[in-house]
Amino acid sequence: MGVEEQEKKVVDDADIDVSVLEGVGPATKQKLNSAGIYNLMDLVVHSANYLLEVLGGSMSKVLLLQEKARAKLTEFRVLYADFVSADQLYEQRKKIAFISTGSKNLDNLLLGGIETQAITEFYGEFGSGKTQICHTVCVNVQLGADQGGLSSPAIYLDTEHTFRPSRILEIAEGKSDVPFEMLRNIHVARAMNSSHLRLLVRNLGRKIRETDARLVVLDSAVAPFRAEYVGRAQLAERQQVLNVMMHDLTRLSELYDVAVLMTNQVMAKPDVFFGDPTRPIGGHVVSHATTYRLYLRKARNARVASIMDSPHHPPGEAVFIIAKEGILDQD
Ligand SMILES: Nc1ncnc2c1ncn2[C@@H]1O[C@H](COP(=O)(O)OP(=O)(O)OP(=O)(O)O)[C@@H](O)[C@H]1O
Ligand SMILES: [Mg+2]
Repeated sequence: MGVEEQEKKVVDDADIDVSVLEGVGPATKQKLNSAGIYNLMDLVVHSANYLLEVLGGSMSKVLLLQEKARAKLTEFRVLYADFVSADQLYEQRKKIAFISTGSKNLDNLLLGGIETQAITEFYGEFGSGKTQICHTVCVNVQLGADQGGLSSPAIYLDTEHTFRPSRILEIAEGKSDVPFEMLRNIHVARAMNSSHLRLLVRNLGRKIRETDARLVVLDSAVAPFRAEYVGRAQLAERQQVLNVMMHDLTRLSELYDVAVLMTNQVMAKPDVFFGDPTRPIGGHVVSHATTYRLYLRKARNARVASIMDSPHHPPGEAVFIIAKEGILDQD
């Protein structure tokens, strides 16, 4: 590829392989790739601490590597690609689309449904319907616009091993003539632990490009971190790695115009004597990163969702049910 073509490609997608840098041999490239770092932009936007964790060695070497990456990007004028005019931003925001939850009430509460270019979080106690919503929305995203979908595949990151293909089929049967086709369009990864989940999220960009997915589900997003980073001593570290993951999700949702749907558990430990005992876990890092937060609770024969945190939704509630067909309105 000639320099001009290369430059154009670069300005288009900032995708220059790390191996162009002096000092990045096959072993280093391998280490970087396994941590989700493929191109020069990846090298620049990750923290030096993270790179040190990945590469080992000394901080000064890491800083030098980043400096080389910046120099190369400047040479190729990639940095111009970071600037967009406000009308382009306006166009990007106009692309925002909605996926139906299956319940009109819940869609109305969300002012349209699960939104692309945003992170929507459902939190609530066990059995409140979080996983059922994830399953239903994975089917709905595949439907046509007339049925509240985006005719697109879904990606499902399952950290609790509660994804059930049979449940997808059951929900899909009522909505599609080809329910098996719907299974094929859900790309599922089981995350073994928080480190694996971080890696999966790091590499999501590629998977989204490959599959054209418009929905990424994380069920659940924070629990693995909570299980592994225990006690006060590890809290700061936990929040730091969570923060990186949440940033990745935000960036992906905007870059690829996908909806991120994540679930979260509530604090069960009664060591908080004041305030709301049903706080979601993950603290400020998660609450700042999510665009919309909804609290789910069980009612007698139904579920109730409340909007807890949103830049532009009025406070409100929606009642829905969980049925064989998935999430529905109560009739
Ligand atoms: N096929 C079905 N038909 C009707 N209701 C169902 C069906 N499958 C599950 N449910 C309902 O969904 C509930 C489970 O909800 P779900 O698994 O979504 O909870 P959750 O919020 O993800 O809980 P956890 O915190 O344990 O993950 C069951 O208690 C049941 O009421
Ligand atoms: Mg669940």
